[in-house]
Order: sequence, then C-alpha cells, then structure tokens
Amino acid sequence: MKDVYILAIETSCDETSIAIVKNGHEVVAITILTQMKTHAEFGGVVPEIASRMHTENITMVLEETLNKAKMQVSDVDAIAVTYKPGLLGSLLVGIEFAKVLSYVYHKPLIKVNHLIGHIYANAINNKLEFPLLALVVSGGHTELVIMKDDYDFELLGSTLDDAIGEAYDKVARILDIPYPGGPGIEKLALEGTPSYELPKPVLDNTYNFSYSGLKSFIINLVHNETQRGNEIRRADLAASFQATAIDELARKVDLALRNTGIKNVIVAGGVSANKYLRKEIENVANKNNAKLTIPEFIYCTDNAAMIGAAAYPLYLKRDFTDYSLNAESSANIC
Ligand code: KG4
Ligand code: ZN
Repeated sequence: MKDVYILAIETSCDETSIAIVKNGHEVVAITILTQMKTHAEFGGVVPEIASRMHTENITMVLEETLNKAKMQVSDVDAIAVTYKPGLLGSLLVGIEFAKVLSYVYHKPLIKVNHLIGHIYANAINNKLEFPLLALVVSGGHTELVIMKDDYDFELLGSTLDDAIGEAYDKVARILDIPYPGGPGIEKLALEGTPSYELPKPVLDNTYNFSYSGLKSFIINLVHNETQRGNEIRRADLAASFQATAIDELARKVDLALRNTGIKNVIVAGGVSANKYLRKEIENVANKNNAKLTIPEFIYCTDNAAMIGAAAYPLYLKRDFTDYSLNAESSANIC
C-alpha cells in the first residue's frame, strides 16, 4: 500500500504545532511553538492573546515543519486539524489555515477531536491493541474510556467537576507555583512527604472522579493557616495532593481492569507526563497483567503529531470534511 502523509495542525490552546505524520505512526517532522512564557505572566492562558499569537506564528511553524521534513504541502495526502474542544478563537486560526491549505493544494480536509488526538498519541511509534482501556488526564478532562477498535469508544466514567489537570493548576496557584502548575507541583512534591491528611476525591465504586472537593480543601487550608500566621509546608502539601489525586486514578484504573478483564491500558493527556502517575499506573497494569502504553513525554502535552495519528484511521475510511467546518466547544469523545 502507498504511504500516507498527513499534515496536521493543532492550535486548540497555547501551543501552535504542525506535524507531518506518515501512516499514522511515524513523525516525519514536528514543530511545537509554546506560548507558555507569555501566559505565565498572567497566571493562566489569556484566550485573546493565544489566538493572536497563533495568527502571528502559524505560517512560520508550517515553514519550519516543511523544512525539517524536506517536503512541500503538495507532497502530503491530506490536511488534518483540531476542531474541538478548546479555545474557540485559537481553534479558528488552525481551522482557517487548514481550509486554505486544503483548498489551494486540493487536499482532503480531516477534522480531529483533540481528546481523541491525545489517545492516538499512543499510536506514535506503536500499534494500538484492542480492546484497550484509556485513561485521559488533561487540563480539561479526566475520563476512563474503553476502545474496542479504531474510533469505537465507550465512556466508562469521567470527572463530575474539575479535571485533574485543572486541580493541579489551581493548587499550584495557591502554592505560588507559576503556570502551568502540573510540572511545578511534581517537582516540589519530590522534596516533600505526603504527610497532610486530605479528603479522598471519591470513595465509591463507579468509574467517575471528583477533584473539586480536594482542590477547595487545599485552598481553604492554605488561607486558614496563612491567616493564623502558621507556616505551610509547601512541599509536603504538594506531595500529599499529588498522592491523593493520583492514587484515586490508579484505584479506578485497577477497578476497571479487574471488572472488564481488558489487558491493554493507555494513558493520554498532559498529566500523563507526570512521573508519579506513570509509576502508579504501571504498578496497577503489572498487577493485572496488562500491557501499559504511555506516550513519550513530548507527545503527552499538546502537539500536532497526535492529531496526525488520530487523522489516519479517518483518512483510511475517507472520512473527510467540507469547508463549512467550524470550531466547537463540546468536549465529548463519544
Ligand atoms: O493535555 P494538555 O497539554 O492540555 C489540555 O488539553 O488540557 O494538558 C495540560 C494539563 C495542565 O493542567 C498541566 O498542568 C498538566 O496537564 N500537566 C501536568 C504535568 N505536565 C502537564 N500535570 C502533572 N504533572 C505534570 N508533569
Ligand atoms: Zn490537550
């Protein structure tokens, strides 16, 4: 079969990224331009600034990717773009850019759900084995999903309130750790011990999660202790938060593996860069004799290669989209 090259575009949040992916598995070239430093000054992503920066940089990111690949747009087989979920203004920059490339170069256009992109980050340099259990942990999502085949999703459970990444970012903020908080908490936690007694997120046997109670408890604790003039053991609190939040994820993955008998587990989304999480889920996978796949660090957080990987099964099905494509905020996988 002829090789398939997909040029993929990701601008859903604060990374402008373009990649060329071969046959859904091999990254020929990728550029990821992060706006993190700019947004860190404001303590979080400022949507208006994010879309303006995408507009300024996207052409340069394309040029750099094509140069790295030694290819031209005319060499690829399709253009793929993230259309949901994300910041609408940011998504629109990528979508319009993708439409123009598709139109000018007569290439089919493929729309990709960003969350499904995170899942397919596991197909980079790897072959997904079905059925699999996917744990999606990002700034906006905490979900357990069963996949029986490509694009065949069954939602087992999800967060009832805050996503785990969001809890990381909010707890980081109260501990004066700059945005994005996840990596900062992970680093600080290494210097502490989980010695604070914190409320467990959810103790039931559903597959749902809840992080807002844990987050609020920590915010209140820090406020109260500061008001009383008591010292906060920041590293211990970071370690306690991380252990509580992630142990709950591991417990639910364990429950799902035991109940379904599934033997393949994958982790997806920005929080999958967390080493404590990787270790805990690895332990659970080993205990259940399941094979664990986690993307390489670079493909854990937002990037266009995962969009190219997720677009490949759609390309094979000729699941193309027309130029009425618009950005959507709806965040469902299935
Ligand atoms: O998937 P992602 O890049 O963007 C979304 O689609 O949301 O995830 C971003 C989230 C942020 O909340 C960030 O704090 C978190 O992933 N994150 C981490 C780590 N690296 C990124 N959380 C915990 N530990 C990390 N090392
Ligand atoms: Zn993401």
